[in-house]
Amino acid sequence: MREKIKEQFKQRFGTDGVIYASAGRINLIGEHTDYNGGFVFPGAIDKYIMAEININGTDKVRVYSMDMDAYCEFGLNEEDAPQEQWARYIFGVCRETIKRGGVVKGFDTVFAGNVPLGAGLSSSAALESCFAFALNDLFNDNKIDKFELAKIGQSTEHNYCGVNCGIMDQFASVFGKKDCLMRLDCRSLEHEYFPFHPEGYKLVLLNSKVKHELVDSPYNKRRESCERVAATLGVETLRDATYTMLADVRDKISDEDYRRARFVIGEKQRVLDVCDALERGDYETVGRCMFETHDGLSRDYEVSCEELDYLNDVARECGVTGSRIMGGGFGGCTINLVKEDRYDNFIATAKEKFNAKYGHEPEVINVIISDGAHKVED
Ligand code: GLA
Repeated sequence: MREKIKEQFKQRFGTDGVIYASAGRINLIGEHTDYNGGFVFPGAIDKYIMAEININGTDKVRVYSMDMDAYCEFGLNEEDAPQEQWARYIFGVCRETIKRGGVVKGFDTVFAGNVPLGAGLSSSAALESCFAFALNDLFNDNKIDKFELAKIGQSTEHNYCGVNCGIMDQFASVFGKKDCLMRLDCRSLEHEYFPFHPEGYKLVLLNSKVKHELVDSPYNKRRESCERVAATLGVETLRDATYTMLADVRDKISDEDYRRARFVIGEKQRVLDVCDALERGDYETVGRCMFETHDGLSRDYEVSCEELDYLNDVARECGVTGSRIMGGGFGGCTINLVKEDRYDNFIATAKEKFNAKYGHEPEVINVIISDGAHKVED
């Protein structure tokens, strides 16, 4: 990918630039908890967005997306926002950097990636983090701190892309560290690295290829439900809610909001349980929590779909240790923790059964937990 980007950059702009990359993410557990002030447990993966960038001495940004074979040019003022959705991610990162007092001047860039799009692996956070990191390095002597870089990406989603997301994806993409998952407390922003070497197990994603698209999806509605319940309870976020408190307001909220909040309260605890279990090497508990999360996301939070529920059923039938829908939902992947000796049978069965039912095989994505945003040295 790097060589192709370099070749394209040279051809288009006649010079060389500096290369940066940032990663997509997985999340072992802790879904829809980030915007509720809860815990998440993600890691960056070996799937990247990579960009070559060179300061061009003008007040214009000139961008070429190799994967889309599309070119766009924009200025750096608010009124210069491009129409193209893909370019708005980069424009948003520039604007959010400037809004925070950072410097951004014109640059040329070519970028490409291998984070599968619409699979729930946060290709958009990888793109944002790559540029936030690069602009910090190129124009700001790396003075903007890493949490601020993650927030630049998050605000880009809010203000330029229409997704009212939490901080998890951008956090994972910026802070990711090889072989480590990270537990983030989304209220205090305290985080801790957990070395992740599940001896005798494999972590594999199965992409249903049902396109997950958070813009215009009910994602924002889920968040509104949680905020409504928090307001009824008189707490800032559902982080401070308990099952007892929820039961007390049951007749004041809709059944739907009740179920959304019930999931979030359970999920908050599951992240802590999984972290404890991992420290004991107790993968059975990790797996049980993953299945519980799936059930909650499917029945209470209602962000699953038929295909993902089917993949989850097949995982249970094949004796997979833990399996669940991963990320925002509405399509994308399941994440599966499976014993090595059951792996081959699971993959073969999932492919065969899914194909028989839906007419195509799920895509098998093996991931390696890797570093997040970085400069790519020659
Ligand atoms: C998407 C959002 C995240 C998070 C997850 C669900 O990936 O971008 O902030 O809310 O969904 O856990």
